[in-house]
Formats: sequence, C-alpha cells, structure tokens
Amino acid sequence: MPPRPDLLAAPDSATATAVALSGVRHEYRSGGRRILALDGIDLRLAAGESLAVVGPSGCGKSTLLRMIAGFLRPSHGEIRVGGEPVTGPGPDRGVVFQQPRLFPWLSVRGNVAYGLREAGWARSRRRERVEQLLELVGLGDVGGLRPYELSGGMQQRAAIARALAPDPAILLLDEPFAALDALTRERLQEELRGIWLRTGKTLVLVTHSVDEAALLGSRVVVLSPRPGTVVLDESSALPRVEQARETPEFGALRTRILQAVRGE
Ligand SMILES: Nc1ncnc2c1ncn2[C@@H]1O[C@H](COP(=O)(O)OP(=O)(O)OP(=O)(O)O)[C@@H](O)[C@H]1O
Ligand SMILES: [Mg+2]
Repeated sequence: MPPRPDLLAAPDSATATAVALSGVRHEYRSGGRRILALDGIDLRLAAGESLAVVGPSGCGKSTLLRMIAGFLRPSHGEIRVGGEPVTGPGPDRGVVFQQPRLFPWLSVRGNVAYGLREAGWARSRRRERVEQLLELVGLGDVGGLRPYELSGGMQQRAAIARALAPDPAILLLDEPFAALDALTRERLQEELRGIWLRTGKTLVLVTHSVDEAALLGSRVVVLSPRPGTVVLDESSALPRVEQARETPEFGALRTRILQAVRGE
C-alpha cells in the first residue's frame, strides 16, 4: 500500500520523547493485602518507536499500560507523555484492549466516528476520516455492518481504527490479538506492523507472545515475574520489510527475548 501522508504523525522532532517513566512502582491494595505489581521502571520512549513489552502472566504488563493510558496512577514515580505528567486519559493516547469493546448499537462506521463526534469534528470531515481509517485497516467495504456481523479479527481491526480516529500520537495496545486464532493473529500482526510503518505512530504493545514482540517492537522490553522489573531492553534491528518474520534478525531477536523471559 502506498504511504498515506494524511495519516502520518508529526512528532516535533525525530528524537522527541513521547513517553517517559521515572522510578515507576505500582502496588495494589485490596482487602488488606498489598500486591507489588511493578517496581523501578525507568523507560524513555522516543516518538515513532514501537515498544513491545513482554513478560510472564501477572508481571504487571497491563498495569504498566493502564498507567500510561492514565486509567491508573503509579504508587511512586512519574509518567510523562509529550513532556506533561499524566493525570488521566487523553486524546493523545488511543487504547486497544484484548476484547474489541465496540458499541453494539452502532455500525462499524459509527464506532470509528464515535470519538470524532465527541471531539466536535464536522460531519463531512468525520466521514472522510472514517473512510480513510476503514481503508487503512482493511474494512473498506463493511462500514455499514454492526459489530456482531463481523468476525473477531474484523472487530479488532475496527477497534484499532476507532483508537486511531482522533489521530493520537501514541497507540497503546494490551494483548490486542490474544483472543484470535493463530492465522488471523498473524495477519493482524503484519497489518499492525504496516500501520506503524505507514503512520509513524508511537506504539506500546503489551504481549506475552515472544514472536509478536520480536515482529512488532522496534524496541523490546522484557519484564521479570512480579514485581515486574526490566530484565531486557533492546532496540531491534529487524529490517523494515514485508516478511520480516523470515529474516535471520527475527530469529536471533526471538531467541534473546525467549532467554530473557526464561530468566537465562
Ligand atoms: N485491581 C487489582 N487489584 C489487586 N491486584 C491486582 C489488580 N490488577 C492486577 N493485580 C495484580 O497485579 C499483578 C499484575 O497484574 P497485571 O494485570 O498488570 O499483569 P499482566 O502482566 O498484565 O498479566 P497477564 O499477562 O496475565 O495479562 C498481578 O499479580 C495481579 O494479580
Ligand atoms: Mg494483562
């Protein structure tokens, strides 16, 4: 697909810091119990980077993402997005969850347009933007259908289009493909990679899949078992080509991630 300049993000400079976490720790308190989910997280993510966060179940990946999204405050430390401390959710961050969470009473088009209507976009501009996005995620011909008429993979594509609609600088994804069958998952991974390459968005992708992290991260962070701390932080030299999965770099990176996940 040719580049879509209209959808390109415009970071202030190529090295602008999009997300900065300093000394971040999060402890849950429930029923008199304290659960330390994450500790000592220091990360600076440049605009346009695609950070894959991988680690065992319960190591604090979703906690980390929810703090960047602004749904949850860190117990200690600070998170800045675009230089500003995070105090809550904002239009600069689009979020995609494991389940698509589409509005069942709206068409696909209506779901993608929802945030734009809320943000006061004029009807004609909204319509144009929605059609662009549906094309981008490969749903150009099903905009009129309701979510229940779509397959799981199509619903997740619609959720990605909805998150991209207000043109957030940062896209946060929490196990977005975990509920899908292997083939659909592989296809959507390739598509997300294509979207990242074409739009230049900053991505934070949480996954427990080593392959997904190796394929989609321009940088990969591995967290230890709970409390999650960073045990590997590596920039990826994966060539920006189609079929990246078949390159030797992919295999080598995959092995290093796997070793870090296993604590080797
Ligand atoms: N609302 C909560 N109250 C209390 N403890 C919680 C809460 N949410 C998460 N936890 C605990 O914090 C730890 C980290 O949870 P989190 O959901 O961030 O893990 P995760 O890495 O996303 O796991 P998974 O891969 O299974 O999704 C877990 O031990 C979990 O039990
Ligand atoms: Mg999780």
